[in-house]
Amino acid sequence: MRITVIGAGYVGLVTGVCLADFGHSVDVIDIDASRIERLKAGHSPIFEPGIERLITHNLESGRLAFSMDLESSVHAASVVFIAVSTPSSDTGESDLRYLFTAVDQVAAILSQHPSETPTILVVKSTVPVGTCTSVRTRLLNAGIGEDRCIVVSNPEFLREGNAIGDCLNPERVVIGAESAVAFDRMKSLYHPYVAREIPFVEVSLAAAEHIKYASNAFLAVKISFINELALLCEKTHTDVLEVARGMGLDARIGPSFLMPGPGFGGSCFPKDIRALEAVGQKNGVELKLLGAVDLINKRQKRHVVNQVLTRLSGISAPIVAVLGLAFKANTDDMRDAPALDILPALIANGAMIQAYDLVAADNARPLLGEHVRYCSSAMAAAADADVLLILTEWNEFYDIDLMALKSQMRTPTIVDTRRVIDPKSATRAGFNYYGIGRA
Ligand code: NAD
Ligand code: UGA
Repeated sequence: MRITVIGAGYVGLVTGVCLADFGHSVDVIDIDASRIERLKAGHSPIFEPGIERLITHNLESGRLAFSMDLESSVHAASVVFIAVSTPSSDTGESDLRYLFTAVDQVAAILSQHPSETPTILVVKSTVPVGTCTSVRTRLLNAGIGEDRCIVVSNPEFLREGNAIGDCLNPERVVIGAESAVAFDRMKSLYHPYVAREIPFVEVSLAAAEHIKYASNAFLAVKISFINELALLCEKTHTDVLEVARGMGLDARIGPSFLMPGPGFGGSCFPKDIRALEAVGQKNGVELKLLGAVDLINKRQKRHVVNQVLTRLSGISAPIVAVLGLAFKANTDDMRDAPALDILPALIANGAMIQAYDLVAADNARPLLGEHVRYCSSAMAAAADADVLLILTEWNEFYDIDLMALKSQMRTPTIVDTRRVIDPKSATRAGFNYYGIGRA
């Protein structure tokens, strides 16, 4: 099949590359010229394990192309994916302007180039319930009926840092549509999933839109639950990881997403919770649980700040070494990373920050400003520091040389928000160790 993917971001790029790998002929389109030039040269604009190898392989096979020419691509395509961003607006609602711009562009192209079979327009961006119906109305208003274009909702569930694996091997494929033709076309598009018997969830447009938000919201609930419990465990001299393990072995609860941390971040959980709350408000249903999740997440970040400040008390011109800036490991994405709240709060309280992240420093710089000194290794960040604050669970932090670290620091104190350091080893090495959710 010939496919157009609009948007070469985390989702569009990964989707396009994987569909090309399935044997389709794919154009990935973006309005960002420098991004397209980089991609044409085989370089990924995002850090995502495994992506460059797939880009190069599929570029060489001729199945994958990057371009800014939407018109000739859509004209030739039987399926068009929209994977543009849907950020938070000031009110918390999903800002759909990029999505509707893309829809209008597609409508204009389809009006000029009528085709015999209807084009499938797949909304992959995360959008609130009712959006796909609005997309259909928009197409109708532009003179494009169902005989010319069929709208499908196909939300994406990939995780950054694991995006290629998640896209090649999803746990389920959610398809929202109102016609059998649409379901059939999506199944032939995703033939490797069918062959591997990956479950397809075929539902209405509205249900598909809801499934995406509900899934993210539920995962965020789990994280906030364990983060809240972590605070209680600290007071009751209990290790929250022991509690989480005991809970997670119950199949009804499950072990995943019970890892305490500095608060969840990333491009989606925070914005999607706000967007779902806004949908609730619009429909006269206050989603109280989500309000609480948001508050707990904010409190968690403040808790981390307080833990560091307590340990800096009485030290003049204190230095905090920060290990990890990205919102999680294996990504360079800084969108809504806890570091963006925690570091400014520490700086406002007089701390100097020396930070090290394996790949996110370039993205962090414009967001955190020049008040942070960026270092090229964990040891460099630790030089003369009074607290070592671990914010991201990068693999290399798990087996950091504690003796070498201690010899770098002015005061041997660790605040570990990811529980990457073994407390006994840290104590043996002479550190004052704090791990989140631990006595
Ligand atoms: P992103 O910001 O990384 O990428 C969006 C891209 O779209 C940008 O490169 C931008 O230049 C391009 N773009 C915007 N308007 C365009 C247009 N009219 N024509 C061509 N290109 C255009 O966004 P993302 O993180 O990939 O997220 C995209 C959507 O997928 C969002 O709705 C998000 O909620 C959802 N989602 C994201 C993830 C994730 O892990 N990032 C996972 C699941 C779902
Ligand atoms: C999340 C979802 O997991 C994906 O299914 C979804 O497609 C995506 O959002 C999206 O819609 O964008 P992602 O944001 O890449 O994926 O990362 P996660 O692994 O879910 O982590 C999100 C945040 O929660 C991170 O800050 C992470 O550190 C934190 N987290 C996660 C915890 O604090 N504890 C956990 O147990 C799990």
